[in-house]
Amino acid sequence: MNEHHAIAPTLSSQDIEPTGIPVQGGHISALTSESRSNVEKGYASLAIEVIGVTKEFDGGAVRALNGMDLRVERGEFIAIMGPSGCGKSTLLHLLAALDSPTSGTIRVEGQDLSHLPDPSRYRRQTIGLVFQLHNLLPRLSALANIEVAMMGSHRPHRERTVWARQLLSELDLADRERRHPPQLSGGERQRVAIARALANDPPVLLVDEPTGNLDSDASANVLALFARLQREYGVTTVMVTHDPAVAQAAGRILQMRDGRIGDPIGA
Ligand SMILES: Nc1ncnc2c1ncn2[C@@H]1O[C@H](COP(=O)(O)OP(=O)(O)OP(=O)(O)O)[C@@H](O)[C@H]1O
Ligand SMILES: [Mg+2]
Repeated sequence: MNEHHAIAPTLSSQDIEPTGIPVQGGHISALTSESRSNVEKGYASLAIEVIGVTKEFDGGAVRALNGMDLRVERGEFIAIMGPSGCGKSTLLHLLAALDSPTSGTIRVEGQDLSHLPDPSRYRRQTIGLVFQLHNLLPRLSALANIEVAMMGSHRPHRERTVWARQLLSELDLADRERRHPPQLSGGERQRVAIARALANDPPVLLVDEPTGNLDSDASANVLALFARLQREYGVTTVMVTHDPAVAQAAGRILQMRDGRIGDPIGA
């Protein structure tokens, strides 16, 4: 684990070629060819298919999801809204295969999550997840929190620091890379968590209240980044938010209530 503290020599943005990522004015013009090749693999046009999913806790005393159905096209950016406790985070956790449904079927990028041969590989390769509580590792720097997410990834070890720095820079955190999470503000932590979720060029991004701690400028930057990932790389994004103005950034807004999706509104 400790080798992730290794800090590469300082690099200018022109040096960020080893990943094959073209650099445009210091901004991400990546995700890499990896995610594009995922797009080209010709999975079914649905990125996400949730069919009749129920999730119970406490032996059935709590029904967090209740016959939930959801279909998300590949490359769609959707927002999910709904009252506290209606099951939004539970849905994201199931989509990330962090937990399994009590009944029903979930397919992501053509993979049936109840038959995953290697769930951690699925999480590493298919999903970028930004938790509602950021879950950064407090004893690692911002940079190392991103590098550690690349363990076992396709990206060669020597390129990981460069890529982690590029992500931090994209999220306006270049000068915070050595700080540990307790030394970062809530909004900075949130942006490190977003950078970490992008570390492995996931074709599917699941984000739970990504702008909850951000001021309006930082929030607009993050939303613009999601929109660009969708537009340029066909990333599918499911974003949970309480903020109607934030939801407007998505192409489709869904309302959840009592463990299932209602009718689309707006957009
Ligand atoms: N591990 C758990 N054990 C028991 N109950 C749980 C568990 N996780 C979630 N719940 C319950 O399931 C319901 C849905 O929770 P969930 O976290 O999905 O809500 P949410 O829509 O994300 O709410 P919020 O907007 O407040 O984040 C809630 O009633 C919650 O208390
Ligand atoms: Mg939640």
